[in-house]
Amino acid sequence: MKKMKVNLDRKVSGSYEICIGYDVLDRFVMMIAKNQPASHYVIISDSNVSLLYGEVLAEKMRKAGVKVDAVTFPAGEESKNIEVMLALVRELLRVGTDRSSVILALGGGVVGDMAGFIASVFMRSLPYVQIPTTLMAQVDSSIGGKTAVDLPEGKNLLGAFYQPRGVYIDLKLLDTLPETEFNNGLVEVVKYGVIDDTGLFSFLEDNLETIRRRDRNALERIVESACRIKKGIVEIDEKEQGLRRVLNFGHTIGHAIEAESAYGISHGNAVSVGMVAAVTISERLYNFPGEDRMRLERLMRRAGLPLHIPRSVATEGILSRLRMDKKKEGSTIHFVLLKKMGMPFINGGVPEGVLRETIEGLKK
Ligand SMILES: NC(=O)c1ccc[n+]([C@@H]2O[C@H](COP(=O)([O-])OP(=O)(O)OC[C@H]3O[C@@H](n4cnc5c(N)ncnc54)[C@H](O)[C@@H]3O)[C@@H](O)[C@H]2O)c1
Repeated sequence: MKKMKVNLDRKVSGSYEICIGYDVLDRFVMMIAKNQPASHYVIISDSNVSLLYGEVLAEKMRKAGVKVDAVTFPAGEESKNIEVMLALVRELLRVGTDRSSVILALGGGVVGDMAGFIASVFMRSLPYVQIPTTLMAQVDSSIGGKTAVDLPEGKNLLGAFYQPRGVYIDLKLLDTLPETEFNNGLVEVVKYGVIDDTGLFSFLEDNLETIRRRDRNALERIVESACRIKKGIVEIDEKEQGLRRVLNFGHTIGHAIEAESAYGISHGNAVSVGMVAAVTISERLYNFPGEDRMRLERLMRRAGLPLHIPRSVATEGILSRLRMDKKKEGSTIHFVLLKKMGMPFINGGVPEGVLRETIEGLKK
């Protein structure tokens, strides 16, 4: 089992461990009971994950002699809202959750974000641990303490920075993950390769098929690298005041495309095109090497990820969503661009003409 520590300011959030293994739920149960002792644990998961792994985990915990309950909600981003959150809170009360309980967030990013947010406010906060079950959650959302629910006005508008007490990653849980969901996570791994780790990028180029077959060693390599990069960035900038913004590489335009397609384009696909857009702009404005743009495009194509924006998604709509992006400050939209592979920076604003031409150029 691989372990690494997220070192945060002890007085503010405290440090915690990320543990990565394969087929290790039994060991995780023991580690959680030892590292996060509690009189009562509550597993929060969604309807899919609870069927696949919820009862399995609960049974293992009971066998280990700890008191455990489970609450669930319907799977999907549509559930990441305040109404479902309140329904979960009432369920938590019904099963006797109190300040001596620990919450276990078992699921993808939706579970992790919502369970983490509940943990941050339930009875003025409870400890929680993350047991991520999607590749997206294992390489990204379970680490770093960003928690939130969506509002009708936009995604993640109500939330808090609230760090988990531990992140327990079992790579075997990815066996059952549908391909589209696997690809959503793979896009984030490509992102880390581009912004931080050219060795990881080369590994992806050399081992893409093995990774997509979910080979144990290949998964271990990419998840471990991703966690190391994410934790390193969070350690420097826990509250996203500077460096952590580089993790939005490809996401600014990606989110706008995703929303303008009325979520008909998956998050992973939208970020894939968003990354292509970001390197295209970087090439035009900052001499990012054309051959590296082509390397990225080749990798995306091999992974079955899109490089183009469908004509049905309106350029003006994407532009107006970019203007509304919550990460903008005043009238400036911050883009993560690159001077070269592994060297991202926050750009203070891309001229609208360049944005329009780039989006139009990616239409197919
Ligand atoms: N907090 C952060 O830092 C952060 C970072 C990135 C994304 N996010 C958030 O994460 C969310 C997306 O997360 P996601 O991509 O994990 O989606 P998700 O949680 O909706 O999971 C995707 C689907 O896979 C199913 N699933 C989960 N694990 C499975 C498994 N092992 N086998 C079979 N099916 C499984 C789920 O039930 C769901 O239907 C978004 O809400 C996004 O805003 C948060």
